[in-house]
Amino acid sequence: MNGILIESDIPIWRAAKPWLDVRSNDEHTLISYRLGRALLRAHPEVDDRIVLPAILLHDVGWRVFPEELLAKAVGPAAKYPELQRAHEIESVRIARTELNRLAAPNIDIDRVIAIIDGHDTRPQAHSPEDALMKDADKLWRFTAHGIDKLCIWFETPAKETVAMLESYVLPKLLTETAKTMAQAMLADGFAIAWMQETLNL
Ligand SMILES: [Fe+2]
Ligand SMILES: [Fe+2]
Repeated sequence: MNGILIESDIPIWRAAKPWLDVRSNDEHTLISYRLGRALLRAHPEVDDRIVLPAILLHDVGWRVFPEELLAKAVGPAAKYPELQRAHEIESVRIARTELNRLAAPNIDIDRVIAIIDGHDTRPQAHSPEDALMKDADKLWRFTAHGIDKLCIWFETPAKETVAMLESYVLPKLLTETAKTMAQAMLADGFAIAWMQETLNL
């Protein structure tokens, strides 16, 4: 995992991983983790021992629900929007159990849990750590992997998906750093989507 996980987070990743084998949550988590590290470099005052463990464990709760419902839990035409809150509650429960079991030093479990709780449903951040975790989570959607997944879940073509990211997700990012990173990824997303459409003409 050289280049992705820092040493002290490897046990947390190992604890999270068995819960992440649905809806590409393992890849989503690692990509968000790396995006989180980039955000932390631009915000050295923010506590990485809160942000990074919260990223690794924030979505462990999805696995509790039947897989066929998961793709329809998010997005503009979500059929099961109640799963948004339900997966946060399950993530809190599982993350607390795993963090207690690991008894990792230098981690304030209550602060990590407070961020996981509401990471999708609470629009405002209650701390700078919360803001960076929320932005790292949402920034994944702008990556090539995120766009591919959203196109499948929402059943929308890439052009529509990137336009949705620009108009609905970009304004929800909480830090200027994340907005700049998202704009850079949108340059790629729009160009690729446009090329795909042109090839189909
Ligand atoms: Fe989530
Ligand atoms: Fe997530």
